[in-house]
Amino acid sequence: MIEPFAAVEVIAAKRDRNELSNEMIDWIISAYTRGVVADEQMSALLMAILLNGMNSREISRWTNAMINSGERMNWSALDRPTTDKHSTGGVGDKITLPLAPLVAACGGAVPQLSGRGLGHTGGTLDKLESIPGWRAELTNAEMLKVLQDCGAVICAATAGLAPADKKLYALRDVTATVEAIPLIASSIMSKKIAEGTSVLILDVKTGNGAFMSDPARAGELARTMVQLGTDAGVKTRALVTAMDVPLGLTVGNALEVRESVEVLAGGGPADVRELTILLAREMLSAANIKGKDPADALKDGSAMDHWRAMISAQGGNPDAPLPTAKESHQVRAQHSGTMTSMHALKVGVASWRLGAGRSRQGEKLQAGAGIEIHAKPGEVVKEGDLLFTLHTDESARFERALESLEGAVTIVQGGTANPLPLIIERIEP
Ligand code: URA
Repeated sequence: MIEPFAAVEVIAAKRDRNELSNEMIDWIISAYTRGVVADEQMSALLMAILLNGMNSREISRWTNAMINSGERMNWSALDRPTTDKHSTGGVGDKITLPLAPLVAACGGAVPQLSGRGLGHTGGTLDKLESIPGWRAELTNAEMLKVLQDCGAVICAATAGLAPADKKLYALRDVTATVEAIPLIASSIMSKKIAEGTSVLILDVKTGNGAFMSDPARAGELARTMVQLGTDAGVKTRALVTAMDVPLGLTVGNALEVRESVEVLAGGGPADVRELTILLAREMLSAANIKGKDPADALKDGSAMDHWRAMISAQGGNPDAPLPTAKESHQVRAQHSGTMTSMHALKVGVASWRLGAGRSRQGEKLQAGAGIEIHAKPGEVVKEGDLLFTLHTDESARFERALESLEGAVTIVQGGTANPLPLIIERIEP
């Protein structure tokens, strides 16, 4: 096959701040996926994009080229509208777990194709894999059956979905080019559009525990993704939400499953419950589903019924005890006062060091590892009160986790907490 471009032409165009043509974009993505463009060439182009940006036409074409590198799911056999959410990830962000069965209980179909975590933010699949027997890998036919029978499926994206993104994401990770908004937006949206959902609600996190710590940049990322989704015919809205403090009172895989089940049982921490209900209402209203209100579906047990069905359909036992770690360590307040802040990133890194996260792809996790949080910003604590319980299977991990927790909490006599509001911005096309 005669290639229509040479990679150096495309790299030089972006290096010199020129626009890439549609043909160039289609070719470079296809040629990179086919192995014709080398990693070092794509690395140079990614860095040029990070430095010089792309306009909305280029981002949209880049996203389409990534979608076209693989298969597109089709849920037209279903008798109800598909509606999904994507979070850019944060510490203690377990919202997908209660949210998917909750929306199913209210009449939506939720096709959640998720990933595993890397670094300090945990992945949804890692959390669910702490449930004995639960299986993340499903065939397309199995996905459809679980979705049809239970109203929601949470499973691993198949290798055929946006394969260009899989290669590009791994390369960005090792070339310091993850942070470019055009690359993040196209990476997330290519997978979500290929997933075939009709409605998508984006939860774009901001604050020290999110990978977009600046709210203005998080807003820009959210607007870029809403535009991409809308252009592709997916009804897309975004919320920019707080991630300066961990969500809820648990960080770590099995611990977060336990908290999600508490929410499904009508309890759980107020911030997790509130964000779950808010996102569920967005998913339902964007899909024009006017059934039961999500707050009622948490109270009447129907969301829990959908959770149990969904977990069982993928081999999991919803009644089995969740794994717990072998060792624990308590961290107590050194003086009395009001807790004015809790640094989400430090808590996330501590949990990761305890064994809840991985530092390279494929690394095995400890299902029971993580952190329980006993007090949050705004609460008054006394000297000696319990702040955190750390859990791990290997006590040698405590030292490094405790290092990360140093300075994670501020306690001030008569101080006031000033956390980010839970919802910072809402974006509609
Ligand atoms: N998540 C993704 O899927 N892609 C990115 O680029 C960043 C976060």
